[in-house]
Amino acid sequence: MSWQIEPMPTRGPLFEGAIRVYGDAFAQPPYRDPDRGREVKNRLRDSHCKRPSYRGLVAIEDEHVIGMCYGYHGAPGQWWHDTVRIALGKAVAKEWLADSYELVEIAVAPKHQGRGVGEALIAALLEGRPEKACVLSTRTDSRAHELYRRLGFELIREMPFAPAGAPFYVMGKRLR
Ligand SMILES: CC(C)(COP(=O)(O)OP(=O)(O)OC[C@H]1O[C@@H](n2cnc3c(N)ncnc32)[C@H](O)[C@@H]1OP(=O)(O)O)[C@@H](O)C(=O)NCCC(=O)NCCS
Repeated sequence: MSWQIEPMPTRGPLFEGAIRVYGDAFAQPPYRDPDRGREVKNRLRDSHCKRPSYRGLVAIEDEHVIGMCYGYHGAPGQWWHDTVRIALGKAVAKEWLADSYELVEIAVAPKHQGRGVGEALIAALLEGRPEKACVLSTRTDSRAHELYRRLGFELIREMPFAPAGAPFYVMGKRLR
């Protein structure tokens, strides 16, 4: 392991590097989404970094950002939290979302994937978290869910986030 993990600032070269990595990762199949980097940049800087218990991290190797992730405490009024809460129904939502940390975004530069950077970013993101669970959603046709399962995430529900949209796994890992 030759990288290190550091806090992600919300401006400057490390932030721009994180967004570049994110854009490159999501330009690949199955996402093939050229606009996603710009969208996440705006959302992260203008809103998500102000949410409770926000934590953003970058993995750096040879002074270059090679991975990024961020999360925050899930709460009513947040789009993802409310959408998933309705889909899960009261009992399951209470079990998984009532005291949850949301892993919102994670990306590793395509040429650095499969080296353990993603696993290390998730471990650092969740270190010391007091919540009962960590929750996330991931497209069923991406390989990311393989990593989440290996790290102890369980499948909670399969659901789309848009009518006729791609199916996602909603997954959760108990933290205590
Ligand atoms: C998912 C992702 C963050 C994992 O980071 P990573 O550094 O490649 O993960 P690690 O090296 O710690 O773990 C590798 C495991 O991740 C999974 N994996 C998912 N996508 C992978 C990819 N493109 N290449 C290699 N492994 C991948 C596999 O289960 C792999 O396990 P294996 O080595 O036993 O096959 C990264 O591959 C990525 O950025 N993918 C594109 C964006 C994405 O899907 N983000 C998650 C959206 S919810």
